[in-house]
Amino acid sequence: MRFGAVLLVQALFCAVSWVAAQDQNDVQYSDAIVPEGTAIAKLTLANFAKFIKENELVLGEFTVPWCLHSKILLPELVKAAERLDADKGIKVFQVDCSVDGPLCDQIGIAHYPSLKTFKNHKMMKDNEYTGRRTANDIYDFMVNHVASPVKRVQDVAQLHEMYLAPDKMENPAVVYYGAEPQFDEIFGKAANELLNSFSFVSCAQCASENEDLRDKVVLYMPPVDERELELNNHTVRPETSVFELTDLASVDLEELRSWLMYSRLPYFDNANIDNYRLYMESKLPLAYFFYVSPQEYMDYKEFFGELGRKYRGKMNFLGLNALVFHSHVRFLNMKEQFPLFAIHDLPVNQKYGLPQLTDDEYKSLTDLIQLDRGEITQLVDDFLAGTAVPLVKSQPIPETQENANVTRVVGMNHDEMVHDATMDVVVRYFADWDAQSRKLEPAFNEVAAMFAMDPEANVKVRFVDVDAAENDILSFPVTSFPTIAVYPAGSQGPPLVHQGVVAKNSLMLFIRDAGAHHIDGFELMKKYNLTEDIDSDSAVDDVVANKDAEVREENAHDEL
Ligand SMILES: *[C@@H]1O[C@H](CO)[C@@H](O)[C@H](O)[C@H]1NC(C)=O
Ligand SMILES: *[C@@H]1O[C@H](CO)[C@@H](O)[C@H](O)[C@H]1NC(C)=O
Ligand SMILES: *[C@@H]1O[C@H](CO)[C@@H](O)[C@H](O)[C@H]1NC(C)=O
Repeated sequence: MRFGAVLLVQALFCAVSWVAAQDQNDVQYSDAIVPEGTAIAKLTLANFAKFIKENELVLGEFTVPWCLHSKILLPELVKAAERLDADKGIKVFQVDCSVDGPLCDQIGIAHYPSLKTFKNHKMMKDNEYTGRRTANDIYDFMVNHVASPVKRVQDVAQLHEMYLAPDKMENPAVVYYGAEPQFDEIFGKAANELLNSFSFVSCAQCASENEDLRDKVVLYMPPVDERELELNNHTVRPETSVFELTDLASVDLEELRSWLMYSRLPYFDNANIDNYRLYMESKLPLAYFFYVSPQEYMDYKEFFGELGRKYRGKMNFLGLNALVFHSHVRFLNMKEQFPLFAIHDLPVNQKYGLPQLTDDEYKSLTDLIQLDRGEITQLVDDFLAGTAVPLVKSQPIPETQENANVTRVVGMNHDEMVHDATMDVVVRYFADWDAQSRKLEPAFNEVAAMFAMDPEANVKVRFVDVDAAENDILSFPVTSFPTIAVYPAGSQGPPLVHQGVVAKNSLMLFIRDAGAHHIDGFELMKKYNLTEDIDSDSAVDDVVANKDAEVREENAHDEL
């Protein structure tokens, strides 16, 4: 749920962490739980395993009564269940997670509604139904699972008639013009995973009419509806709808999947909820053009289409309407000054963008902002060459320090502050909203104050803290709060990280063991006649006891 996809995802799901009912809407059922007497089986922990064991192929909905999205889905799901049962004997069930929470946790339900497929008495690997929530789509999806996902045809005439004719192509068709057994197996696996999005066809004989195609995989895109094109001519599509993947012997499933995921995308398109998901799934770096008017979009359309063509398979390009998606820019570490161009390197969550104006410059601006095409191209080239400098989210460097013993550091000055030739640097990475971070703060400050008291320790160990929720630390991405790290004096590399629960005693031990100077806090306590402060360590029990609650709190934040 990171990378800003959440804003869009929220429009389709209820988060597990939500507790209150959402708006009531005029729907057929009083809540999202199916009443008795429909084709949908109601499962609980008691009968779940038995049901899965008795049925070859089932679709399960996991939900809670109050979720509006589930309520809207329910009538469609009931219709699909009736037809699936009558035509194919395929069963659909529902689990109420507000009653059977542990079962839903075990399955790994991350949002409601979750539609999951179980085949051959196991949950499928790629099990989440993400298609449109209509009875017909759900029905087709499940029926496709029964048949073999790869269709085998004998000759070109049959191929064109059955799978490549314009009226037969709802989804893109992927055709394998070969019969190499090792690749055939990979092709079958890809088909099993992606049969909802592509038609997979295999025809070794078809290559005899066109030897160029032998042993290749070709992706055929469905023809574009001419009427739609006139209304909505904002997409730059590949001029040919054929993609070729050469050297099949060295291809693995991951590679084939990734190729399919990006090859179905246009070179440049306008973002909406449906296609945005496809860009996220393609897992390539994504370049964003935020535009302010349809005219502006059209002015840049061919330009970005060219970039998309040139860098196919390396990164994708998408236009976003700034009026609709303006708040999305905060995930890109940019200011709401439009138009703008930014790149999000999804796999590593780093962001890049063209320079923006200062707030004052922006306020006194009289003309519209113009993006420079040369600068965009340059940024893309630098990014792909690995020489572009990522945007660092950072608070301003504090002008005064509140605590003389603990230096507040921000994203901008992090690297220079934590690496020191002569001092061990102890860092507390915290988040303001995190309760464990707050609990640790007094103990951390106390240890820092004690070290500051001693003339030797004072010049050998520096204490630093960083709000890692408000500052990107590119050299050390923080994944949990609080994180305690020591950068030993003279080292340039990544820090040593404290493992486990932190309290005053374990902090002093860690500084002694991880630091280059091995300054021992317990010796300092003796030297200055400081008694063991038992209070600060009683926090350990609290932290352990509250661990689950804290993890939940963190997850809830991810959703927002
Ligand atoms: C769509 O736009 C392109 C230029 O962007 C233009 O060449 C083409 O004729 C347009 N097609 C339609 C149907 O308007
Ligand atoms: C900083 O350390 C000194 C020396 O131990 C101590 O007197 C002072 O109270 C500490 N300051 C804070 C804010 O803890
Ligand atoms: C610590 O206490 C001992 C004995 O109680 C005393 O001799 C010593 O001077 C004290 N040291 C400090 C730094 O106060």
